Amino acid sequence: MNTVTKTEAGRCPFAGHAGGGPERSAAVASVAHLWRDQPVIDWIDRWAAGPKPDGSALARLITVHVREIGKHFLSVPILTRLSEIRRQHGPRDAFLDAFLHSILDKYEGRYYNRSYLALPLIERIVEDPDSGLDPERMSVLLMADIVRHETTASSPDRPDAPTLRKRVTHALRFVASCVESGDDLEGLAERLPAPPANAAGDWFGMTVQPVYVAHDEYFFIRCLQAHEMVYTTLAADLRAATKAVRAGSFAAAITHLRHADTVFARAAMLFRLVATMRADHFHAFREFTQGASAIQSEQYKRFEIACGTPAAARLHSDAFTNVPAVRADALAGHDNLSDAYLDARRHGTFNAQQWDAIDGCLARLEAGHQRWKATHHSLARRMLGDAAGSGYTTGVPYLQKCLDNRLFWRLGEAYLAGSKVG
Ligand code: HEM
Repeated sequence: MNTVTKTEAGRCPFAGHAGGGPERSAAVASVAHLWRDQPVIDWIDRWAAGPKPDGSALARLITVHVREIGKHFLSVPILTRLSEIRRQHGPRDAFLDAFLHSILDKYEGRYYNRSYLALPLIERIVEDPDSGLDPERMSVLLMADIVRHETTASSPDRPDAPTLRKRVTHALRFVASCVESGDDLEGLAERLPAPPANAAGDWFGMTVQPVYVAHDEYFFIRCLQAHEMVYTTLAADLRAATKAVRAGSFAAAITHLRHADTVFARAAMLFRLVATMRADHFHAFREFTQGASAIQSEQYKRFEIACGTPAAARLHSDAFTNVPAVRADALAGHDNLSDAYLDARRHGTFNAQQWDAIDGCLARLEAGHQRWKATHHSLARRMLGDAAGSGYTTGVPYLQKCLDNRLFWRLGEAYLAGSKVG
């Protein structure tokens, strides 16, 4: 097994600057860095002076550079140029604007989960009318890309062959759960789904911006991006099921809930993938991810509030103060499945058989969520031990407390306790 060796990039020019931001320009670049960066700077200057600058060409160049040195180590002359380019060209090129949002996050002191994962760019690609994508299809592309990356990258710190096989197999299983492939994983690896062959699809390759140069950070970022896509899909399913219950449509409600059940199984697959990472490989890049944590994941909490308004203790804890927009929505009293369910029970909207089917789906979602949290907790304990979380919580003790939380806590005892989970 290879170990991660700290390259030159490991000597952080900004070490000691907790908040980041343009004030970091006080750091003096070494001669070696000037030598390394000059061709990139010249290229950017030529690009900016060109008659019709092409945003994706610039993004491709910056992506190659970031993968060589890590985003945390971009030099100030490059960052100031990119900042100015975003100001000038961002308003006419939404893809370039979204790309630079993530590239400049540390420099501008606003680094967090969303920018670490390049979510503005991923969302821009999904929302493009020509992409033919939705969050679920995007999650498949992200997993397919892990297979491609792990089977072609030649980094010295890639995992040993058995670990690699395991990782690729888990990624393929995720892909197989979304496309018609039978059990033929090998065959599936030969015909992996690819990004659309158009302008939106061109940007897919620019959606991984690692902070460091560790091999495992690439697949870790892809897993967290897939997590966002999975929970975006789940939140949409729960909102659609709520509407269907309100409309008294059993068929539509059960379709959305069963779909959510299938998608939830994929959320668990992501942990099997991440569990193929060694703790020391994780810590090699974690040093530079402080401030970005999935506790800031809006989609995870949007799914939660679509299930029901969280109990007051959770709503006022770190879990929700880290996602202020979602917390505000929950406090504003938006509709959710628990409210719709209780109203429908009062009005006798469905017959006993229909309630059994709905309760079974909700009980399975609850049980799946509990298993998801328990697996996450053990993974974090193995990787972190006693260390605090990168979202500044106590780490494992915070996750332990999350285990007590329930999605459908208002329905639990009265309706779901006797349901078959299957
Ligand atoms: C090396 C692996 C991982 C470790 C050590 C880890 C650790 C943690 C810690 C300590 C927290 C608490 C917040 C903080 O202070 O940062 C957290 C929150 C969270 N993590 Fe992870 N995590 C890992 C992987 C993942 C993965 C792969 C996912 C998704 C697929 C994920 C999703 C989440 C979510 C959604 C939260 C917020 C939970 C809540 O607020 O209820 N984590 N993680």
